[in-house]
Amino acid sequence: MERSVKLEASLACANFRNLESDIAQLTAAKIDFLHIDIMDGKFVPNFALDFSIMQTARELCAIPQECHLMVVEPERYIDKTVASGAEYVGIHYEATYHVQRSLQQIRDAGAKAGIVLNPATPLTNLEYIMDDIDMITIMTVNPGFVGQKLIPAMLRKIKDTRTLLSATGHDNIEIQVDGNVSFQQIPEMVAAGATMLVGGTSSVFHKDYSIGEAIAAVRTIVKRAEAAQ
Ligand code: DX5
Ligand code: ZN
Repeated sequence: MERSVKLEASLACANFRNLESDIAQLTAAKIDFLHIDIMDGKFVPNFALDFSIMQTARELCAIPQECHLMVVEPERYIDKTVASGAEYVGIHYEATYHVQRSLQQIRDAGAKAGIVLNPATPLTNLEYIMDDIDMITIMTVNPGFVGQKLIPAMLRKIKDTRTLLSATGHDNIEIQVDGNVSFQQIPEMVAAGATMLVGGTSSVFHKDYSIGEAIAAVRTIVKRAEAAQ
């Protein structure tokens, strides 16, 4: 099956002193999605973006938004997230008692449903909810902070996710990778089967490159990795 790799910009890593310019550069480089990290200070020991930032981004551009809810009991915020314009909403497996119901709630609200797995959460937890998912997110770091190092076992987890999807006839489900998606790691991530790459300080917002340069470099790396398959 032909798979296309989508590139996302992790908006929490943007320069908020000049957000308009960053978003203009992301638009010019035709980034596929804005990845919006929403943190509640409880599920993760940090706070991050919110609905007003989604609104601001929507006023500045037409880039589709994809929301990563790092909040406990995400069901409290799903409807508001979709109403704020999210095309995908990702909820953490670890954050709610009723995972299947919450995934259903996302679809009922009109968005695509993502399940996000912390590094220690096994793939076997997905066995009975495969039909309720449009995207699986493999956290390659523990969520909550930018600029962390990839946990090496997560490369095997991406590969195991692809194997699981192929074996069960679910290759239409996207495999998103979030955390330390760097120029160095991208070839292995793509080879393992990732289809959505969240670029933060490790690539799209790398301190040594402009956003345009970084995105062009990522696209070249992705193309090379796809051709090598
Ligand atoms: C957490 C965030 C970060 C973000 C940061 O959920 O979404 O992992 O991608 O990117 P890096 O790891 O490149 O700073
Ligand atoms: Zn994220």
